[in-house]
Amino acid sequence: MLVSMKRILEYAEAHDQAIGAFNVSTLEGLMGTLEAAEELHQPVIIQFAQVHESIISVDVLGPVMVMMAEKSTVPVCVHLDHGEDLDYLKKALDMGFTSIMYDGSVLDFEKNVANTCIAVEMAEAYGASVEAEIGCMGREEFGSVGEEGEAVQSMYTNPEEAREFVARTDVDALACSFGTVHGLYLTQPKLDFGIISSIREKAQIPIVMHGGSGVSAPDFRECIKRGVRKINYYTYAAKAGGEAVKAQCGKEDDVVYFHDVATWGREAMKADVMTAMKVFSGK
Ligand code: 13P
Repeated sequence: MLVSMKRILEYAEAHDQAIGAFNVSTLEGLMGTLEAAEELHQPVIIQFAQVHESIISVDVLGPVMVMMAEKSTVPVCVHLDHGEDLDYLKKALDMGFTSIMYDGSVLDFEKNVANTCIAVEMAEAYGASVEAEIGCMGREEFGSVGEEGEAVQSMYTNPEEAREFVARTDVDALACSFGTVHGLYLTQPKLDFGIISSIREKAQIPIVMHGGSGVSAPDFRECIKRGVRKINYYTYAAKAGGEAVKAQCGKEDDVVYFHDVATWGREAMKADVMTAMKVFSGK
């Protein structure tokens, strides 16, 4: 069933857990993620990142996401990840997305507040939820390895700024920077758990972790304990799919059909998503 992010976050709050927000950029990723959620009886957020337009257009995958969420046996939120312009957010809302992220993190604070307020007003008309971001996570959702040293250059969220931002925008969830980055980590991430507690105490809002791939299970648990309620996750699932295909192709003497490739990828992504969901839900 299709639900708003607010509903899903209330569930997470009530169960002291986080909900996985899995980026989907292929039909196989979408199917694998929903199959994983249904098998584990877990609510889930499926999200499309604007930057993935170069892989597939939201015009193609978006309506399928909404249709499959409506038919699902578990609560599913269809979310737009890292929407950078307001027209694009509106397009997702018109398509039936139940949640949008406005990412104004590269703008100055006042401009980010002003644009986020427009996004909140827009979403309200559709009964949709809004996530925004302050602080900077670095790199885009492509799972690519960045320049040496880039991983440690993220700009952490200032808890006092977070409080003011939430009070002025009335967003439903806040993406914060406390040591995670998008994509593959060059070194083991060192998270600043104190920032999560401090933002939570001051802003009283569900916190969103971006860059979930590569974070250890004990670190996930600590973040959840301190108030992370949505965990964005993409690179490791996509990599699991790619690696399964590579391994399987190496084994096949016979002709390989594309539908075989799609199935190997989907099954491996599903297995990876299930592992992540178990950690996020404390199972
Ligand atoms: P990873 O690709 O590092 O898992 O991050 C995904 C993400 O944060 C999408 O917004």
